[in-house]
Amino acid sequence: MKKNLTSKLLMNMWCEFWQEKGHKQVKGASLIPNANDTSVLFTTAGMQPLVPYLLGEKHPQGTRLFSIQPCLRTNDIDEVGDNRHHTMFFMLGNWSLGDYFKKEAISWSWDFLTNPKWLDIPKNRLAVTVFKGDETVPCDNTSAKLWEEQGMPKDKIFFFPKKDNWWEMGGGVGPCGPDTEIFFDTGKPSCGEHCNPSCDCGKWVEIWNNVFMEFLIKTEGGQLSKLPNQNVDTGMGMERVVSVLNGYKSTYQNDCFAGAIEKLELLSNKKFDFDNEQGRNFAIICDHIRASVFLLGDENPTVPSNVGQGYILRRLIRRSVNCARNLEINVKELVLVAKEFIEFYADFFPQFIDKQNFILDELNKEILKFEQAIDSGLKEFNRIIQQKNNGETIDGITAFHLFDTFGFPLELTIELAKKHNINVDKKGFEKAFAEHQQKSRDASSGMFKGGVAVAVDENEKLKLAKLHTATHLLHAGLHKFVSPDANQRGSNITTERLRFDFACDHKLSQEELEKVENYVNDAIKADVEITCEEMSLEDAKKSGAIGIFESKYGEKVKVYTMGNFSKEICGGPHAGRTGELGKFKIQKEESSSSGVRRIKAILID
Ligand code: SER
Repeated sequence: MKKNLTSKLLMNMWCEFWQEKGHKQVKGASLIPNANDTSVLFTTAGMQPLVPYLLGEKHPQGTRLFSIQPCLRTNDIDEVGDNRHHTMFFMLGNWSLGDYFKKEAISWSWDFLTNPKWLDIPKNRLAVTVFKGDETVPCDNTSAKLWEEQGMPKDKIFFFPKKDNWWEMGGGVGPCGPDTEIFFDTGKPSCGEHCNPSCDCGKWVEIWNNVFMEFLIKTEGGQLSKLPNQNVDTGMGMERVVSVLNGYKSTYQNDCFAGAIEKLELLSNKKFDFDNEQGRNFAIICDHIRASVFLLGDENPTVPSNVGQGYILRRLIRRSVNCARNLEINVKELVLVAKEFIEFYADFFPQFIDKQNFILDELNKEILKFEQAIDSGLKEFNRIIQQKNNGETIDGITAFHLFDTFGFPLELTIELAKKHNINVDKKGFEKAFAEHQQKSRDASSGMFKGGVAVAVDENEKLKLAKLHTATHLLHAGLHKFVSPDANQRGSNITTERLRFDFACDHKLSQEELEKVENYVNDAIKADVEITCEEMSLEDAKKSGAIGIFESKYGEKVKVYTMGNFSKEICGGPHAGRTGELGKFKIQKEESSSSGVRRIKAILID
């Protein structure tokens, strides 16, 4: 087994291995899904940014790709604090887009895991599972045979049904297929003669998933059809692999948390022990502050707010503050923990160094805001609590009122109420919160389809493309008439409207809005062709393209040009000519968060 395996070493080996096998690294930086993907708040799997290419679009970097993708999942947020749950984690992935298929995928997986040059895992500590087949897709005997050829004993190859060996996106819509999963024997005693990788006694831990994506589900509950290509999509959870191979008892023993834990130990004058309540506070701070650094440092930065991604970030920071209080740390010193992460990841995400001031300032601002909220919220909380008797419950609407009006987080209400022997209706809070979200969300049709927004309907696809083109023209207009620094801070497109967030320190005047709107409409009237070129990031910058200038390892980017009106780095797709767009109309200009304005606009046919 590889000695002293750290997450840094694993990331480096991942790059080296796949480069050796002719793969190109795709940038894995944004935690915020593409502008066109409005179905999920965050990037939750390494393959998510690759969906259009798995569906058949040509990828500018070719057919063999790999990435180190930060992912964020909020479904387990309440579990964070134990020895293995995280909100943000890294997923290592490699892809074949209609290039190699099962044979190479399996032999390379085996090589990476067992070859002494790479992870050097003793072969007898591995087992695999393959898809057993059902009425629509046959048993994956091919993969089983390929594993045998690698030297995997027959009794370590398990056949399981769809619930274990089939991968599809949340909501079931999108590319999918049978998978083969690789499990590591932790050395724990087996739970009985039927112990196998599908049981959760802890003996077997999944370390890598190879999905053979050759199918597509177009609509929720719809039939399977074939994708244009046979693709491979793999995913390996970095923190988990480093932990199980090292025999760690907690994923927080991973090297990426070492600096933060050391700092917390110093600040709190307490020792980290993941087995007790204090350890929970350490783990929550580590997880949440790391995720906050990545959200704030993202190319499409999230800032704390009361809706969407901003709400999650607010929750992450405020929960960290609560934990810091529990550890008796001066909460303002949490920025020092954030600094540890910025430094740790500087090799892989050098942009965090440039954005350090922004990240730490925003963090600091939110911490201060929270302190004020606690002061005023406490007064209201005490008023509420005085009217309650022992054992009574604070209803969901009241808990939500504390949150919405005073920024008082639910966790804090629960914690304080507990001290008075009062319960809090958590479900009721969630209901009130969901209703609030619904009200403040644009109730537009194409927005939440469940699963990824695969625009299956050509008409819908076209609408999204046109609004995306309009977004570029708007961005260019803002640069020209508002400020050369009016850079994109966020973008969200539904079939009904575009929403664009940009850096700007003032409310736009009527005159500015008119100029920008006219600029877009002039570009539409000029009916210029929209062209796309692939070039290095350097050349893109030189050409005067605007857009997000973050990329590593010299990869190529696509630059979309719309006559003299706009030149921007982007992944597409767009309309063919500007004349196709109809009339552009700005509906609303408002503040999005401090230093960021938001425009909502539509196209009228
Ligand atoms: N899509 C698969 C997963 O998320 C493999 O990348 O596990």
